[in-house]
Amino acid sequence: MNHLIVYAHPNPNSFNHAILETVQSELANQGHEVRVRDLYQLKFNPVLSGEDFAAFQQHKLPPDIEEEQRHIAWAEHIVVIYPIWWAGMPAILKGYIDRVFSYGFAYKYGEQGNIEQLLKGKAALLVSTHGNSEENYRQSGMYEAMKKTSDYGIFEFVGMKVLAHSFPASVTTVDDAARKSMLSEARQLLKELHA
Ligand SMILES: Cc1cc2nc3c(=O)[nH]c(=O)nc-3n(C[C@H](O)[C@H](O)[C@H](O)COP(=O)(O)O)c2cc1C
Repeated sequence: MNHLIVYAHPNPNSFNHAILETVQSELANQGHEVRVRDLYQLKFNPVLSGEDFAAFQQHKLPPDIEEEQRHIAWAEHIVVIYPIWWAGMPAILKGYIDRVFSYGFAYKYGEQGNIEQLLKGKAALLVSTHGNSEENYRQSGMYEAMKKTSDYGIFEFVGMKVLAHSFPASVTTVDDAARKSMLSEARQLLKELHA
């Protein structure tokens, strides 16, 4: 299968980068085609601008958006890896969604005013590390809130099936052994999803 990894972390020495490497190698070991879009390395411009809207109105696409849409069109599975920053995605990833999941590509309005989901048939897997404890985020309802705004509000909105949303917790404070076991869990999840 064709897997696209969309990755949003600026630090190549981060735990998120270790997750990226784990996911990339596990998918390649399973024989999948894998492409990585490392948004910081690409210096992806996350600002949906007046020029973008003007281009959309003329049925044109800015070249960077067109390129990312080609990768999404190619992919059957999309893995999105990012840290939770202020209860959601880093701005660069949110801006990638703003610009790349555009009207006419990811969704459009049908004749009855209904939403047509244009990315049906694709599946998404989300991995979001965070610093808070699992207990704190479970009790406060943060997991439900984040799943609502990302899984339901973005990926399912455009027709993708969200296979799983994994939230490695307390990653800023746990020891190396715990981090290694989180990487094994990520590998295990991919084995189960693609068994
Ligand atoms: C700008 C910023 C905002 C953050 N906001 C949150 C937050 O809302 N909730 C949380 O649990 N952790 C938060 N964190 C902690 C990050 O989620 C944590 O540092 C990251 O997941 C660790 O992974 P890394 O080592 O790959 O960066 C924040 C960190 C930064 C830098």
